[in-house]
Amino acid sequence: MTEPINFNALFLGPKAENYDFFKRMLVYLMDDHAEWRRFFHPEDPLVVTEEEKARPDFARTLQNTREALIELAGNLQVSSNPWFSPRYLGHMNADTLIAANLGYMLTLLYNPNNCAYEGSPATTALEIETGRQLAALMGYDPRTAWGHITSGGTVANYEGVWLARNLASIPFAIRDCMPELVEGLDDWRLMNLPVKDVLDLVDRARERGRFDEVRDRSVRGTGMAGRDLGVLLVPESKHYSWAKAADIFGIGRENLIPVPVRDDYRMDIRALESIIDSLAAQKRPVLAVVAVVGSTEEGAVDEVHEIVRLRERYAEKGVFFYLHVDAALRLERL
Ligand SMILES: Cc1ncc(COP(=O)(O)O)c(C=O)c1O
Repeated sequence: MTEPINFNALFLGPKAENYDFFKRMLVYLMDDHAEWRRFFHPEDPLVVTEEEKARPDFARTLQNTREALIELAGNLQVSSNPWFSPRYLGHMNADTLIAANLGYMLTLLYNPNNCAYEGSPATTALEIETGRQLAALMGYDPRTAWGHITSGGTVANYEGVWLARNLASIPFAIRDCMPELVEGLDDWRLMNLPVKDVLDLVDRARERGRFDEVRDRSVRGTGMAGRDLGVLLVPESKHYSWAKAADIFGIGRENLIPVPVRDDYRMDIRALESIIDSLAAQKRPVLAVVAVVGSTEEGAVDEVHEIVRLRERYAEKGVFFYLHVDAALRLERL
């Protein structure tokens, strides 16, 4: 059995009750990092010599740095919200973990760049591990599932729209380049291919060495001009990043359709169903349905399992929609 976690040991504390531990760890971690620098090619000459340190402009530069940091500290204290206080528990923002704070400060010193493994061998490995842990938490097979860390919820939502949009355009690009692969499928079928079928088409284009051609005929090459890839269905409780996403990715705000929420602020699944029915009757595809797990204002959790069930029922009728879960706020509730 795992030891129960004592939550009071996880945070600095509203009165900085755990400051001794925090400070000791901070100094230990900074010392440890400094040692790393010192012992990296110890034979290399010093760049910052004692002679250099004795120069007046050196002392002045340090003084400027000191003043800037003290000014920042003052500004932060005068104008910040004390999220650490239990008086602010009702707010979306809260105190942050000791481990997160110290981990962040320490990692900054290593300055990793996760855009490429060479720039971040340690943190890329951690990013992959985090993706696998989250996949396992969500019930996916961590050996095949993967994920990556974004800089925040807005970017994660952008990526969801980006993915849904690009996937939706691929069947048509395939039809332009290799019509034999989608022979017999009319526009409506092409607009409603499940993700797996779209990815299979991409694999087949790759096998034939024609992936680049397909990509250039997809929305990634041609842009959104003249395309109608369908509508985004988002609960009324959505975060405003969804409106920005519709704007940025050329979906158009008028194609962002709000789904009513019930009295408990969760998406009204019956309303979602009737919106999809009426879109299907007009032969308008659904680019994606967005479920929110922890709405920004109310913390409401949409019934993702019901939406998944609905998706399965619609798939049987030839209506497919991509599902994105915005769990920026409450992933642990899933
Ligand atoms: C539900 C939801 N999605 C997305 C976001 C955007 O996250 P970020 O502020 O990290 O970009 C928020 C932020 O509060 C949110 O509550």
